[in-house]
Amino acid sequence: MAGFTSSTIGRKYAMALSAMFLLLFLIMHLSVNLLSVLGKDGPFNAASEFMGYNPLIQFFMQPILGFAVIFHFVMGFVLELKNRSARPVKYGMNNGAANSSWMSRNMIISGLVVLAFLGLHMYDFWWHEMNFKYIEGNTPDQFRFWPELHEKFANLWRVVIYVVAFVLLGLHLAHGFQSSFQSIGARHPKYTPVIKAIGNWYSILIPAGFIFIALYHFLTQQ
Ligand code: HEM
Repeated sequence: MAGFTSSTIGRKYAMALSAMFLLLFLIMHLSVNLLSVLGKDGPFNAASEFMGYNPLIQFFMQPILGFAVIFHFVMGFVLELKNRSARPVKYGMNNGAANSSWMSRNMIISGLVVLAFLGLHMYDFWWHEMNFKYIEGNTPDQFRFWPELHEKFANLWRVVIYVVAFVLLGLHLAHGFQSSFQSIGARHPKYTPVIKAIGNWYSILIPAGFIFIALYHFLTQQ
């Protein structure tokens, strides 16, 4: 593993695999959270209770997810630093779109915004869960999940920050989706345009779904 991640090809491959895992996580995360727009008596509470108390998810999937998130960001920085030191001409003096798309050059900026969002988001939801379950040791309450989520989106500033982060996430995905396939060597005259088209739709629909959830809860506050 150490040998694999010490070569540039190996690093790019590992980066792409972590990205693909996170792409799948986002589909799952959006699907569960979309249930919340079905209202407080909908299936969101039951789904959240399952995700929050199932030992396989809590003690197996959640640590893997945590590792994938940290690995992806650390490896992103390492690759960026290596690229910079290998490149004699700075990006600012680069030949713009003639060399690479604006977004591919700015993955690090959109990535940093998503990282900052995750700091707030973990504090909002993940830390709250850990505190509720393991620090305060409260008894499970199957009806708390929907009201807790709904209440978070009463705050206009949180909604604004989340929506801005989702737009930047979309830009990150717009380049990242197809780039992850390229990095694992999935290049083919017939399939690459299909992968690009799926990537374009994915990078629009996933952030749009998250924006819809945030706005739904903000606009339905009593
Ligand atoms: C409106 C949009 C979103 C809502 C309502 C939402 C809701 C939640 C909730 C309720 C949890 C706590 C789950 C638990 O620990 O039991 C959570 C955790 C988490 N969210 Fe989100 N989320 C949203 C968007 C996002 C986005 C865009 C990302 C990634 C870029 C993300 C990444 C995560 C991660 C990594 C965790 C911790 C893992 C976990 O506990 O499952 N979330 N989110």
